[in-house]
Amino acid sequence: MKIISIEHIGIAVKSLENDAPFWKHVLNISHRGTKILEREGVTTGIYDTGRGKVELLESLGDDSPIAKFLEKHGPGVHHICFEVENIYDAITELLDAGVDVIYKEPKVGAEGYLVTFIHPKSTGGVLVELVQNPD
Ligand code: CO
Repeated sequence: MKIISIEHIGIAVKSLENDAPFWKHVLNISHRGTKILEREGVTTGIYDTGRGKVELLESLGDDSPIAKFLEKHGPGVHHICFEVENIYDAITELLDAGVDVIYKEPKVGAEGYLVTFIHPKSTGGVLVELVQNPD
């Protein structure tokens, strides 16, 4: 598979209101937008260095995946996202190698990106997201 870049690092936070100012004002990374993703039970704040983004993840409810992550691990790095050239090829390659891919058919995520995840048990403990740019 061809990895193009680290697209973003996803960080679970307890509160965007309390935790976003560090990224926005101390590190001075430009804010690309905040989005509520009802289906995923998350509000995302995207900060873009121009060469890789930070995605802050705040839970929308008490039983969302981010709420469960925070309960288990506390705030911190939730996933690392790589942009790949072709997500279908990547999934085939990973499955052939016996890797635990969470969506065997990529889902359409924010901004039309095709998305899947690799289970942390296959990666040494970190949830890995793969995306393909629709353009
Ligand atoms: Co992500």
